[in-house]
Amino acid sequence: MIRLKEEEFAEIVEYMRQNYGINLEKKKTLIECRMSKELESQGVTTFGRYMELLKKDKSGLTASNMVSRLTTNYTYFMREPAHFTILRDHILPEFSKSSSRGFLNVWCAGCSTGEECYTIAMILQDYRDRTGNLLNYRILATDISGQVLEKAGKGIYTAKEMEGLQAEWKNKYFRSADAKTFCVEERLKQNIRFQNQNLLSPYMGTEQFDLIFCRNVMIYFDKKAKETLVKKLEASLKPGGYLVIGHAELLNRGEIKLEPVFPAVYKKNREKQR
Ligand SMILES: C[S@@+](CC[C@H](N)C(=O)[O-])C[C@H]1O[C@@H](n2cnc3c(N)ncnc32)[C@H](O)[C@@H]1O
Repeated sequence: MIRLKEEEFAEIVEYMRQNYGINLEKKKTLIECRMSKELESQGVTTFGRYMELLKKDKSGLTASNMVSRLTTNYTYFMREPAHFTILRDHILPEFSKSSSRGFLNVWCAGCSTGEECYTIAMILQDYRDRTGNLLNYRILATDISGQVLEKAGKGIYTAKEMEGLQAEWKNKYFRSADAKTFCVEERLKQNIRFQNQNLLSPYMGTEQFDLIFCRNVMIYFDKKAKETLVKKLEASLKPGGYLVIGHAELLNRGEIKLEPVFPAVYKKNREKQR
């Protein structure tokens, strides 16, 4: 394994903090473990030399490889299920009553390998099938890691990765891809766009969403990055829209302008926010 010198460690920590908001201050060994192979594949023997290559590489590929290796992508279907119950029992009935919403525009920010956005799609599809309410939807699923987005876009999972899903939904929303894997049905996939996007990028799209899921992303951010992200999420939400974050990421009153309405669920009220 290639070891990090203190100054190299400091440079990588600062680079990841400044560009992606990710705090790696206590992750020296993790960086060494996850990056050594990448350094070897680039034919370099020190982290200092690797960072020189990264800065010279205008294609951004080296930076993208490093980010893919250093982010935590842990996720699974139906993670934090209380949120999906709230979506099914409170948010969707409310949205379906509102005639102004021709379709639901959903953003799954930090979607990792796709389990979260496909879970949202299954909840929405199931709601349509059960209630006969033809609420249309489209989902923008974004992440900073090209590697996870590639897997998410394919939508192919092993039986083990699908353990958290009820059998009925496995049958309804997946088909066999080969002897060991299952592929998400096209009718779910066709409503989802995957995009490589840095949540801390200063360039902000103009798209507005009815519902934003951004769970277990800011947990790895430092205070400043968290503040920047929360502002961006608030601004991307339509009036009356909901923001869902991870249960371990609860924000206090001073940190968010939206109204807390359920655990780790916030609403943008129609009237002007405080
Ligand atoms: C732990 S996963 C969470 C996945 C899913 N949201 C969930 O709750 O199961 C965090 C994801 O956030 C992504 N991420 C981290 N920093 C990011 C940034 N600055 N911009 C976009 N995505 C980021 C990581 O690549 C990773 O896939």
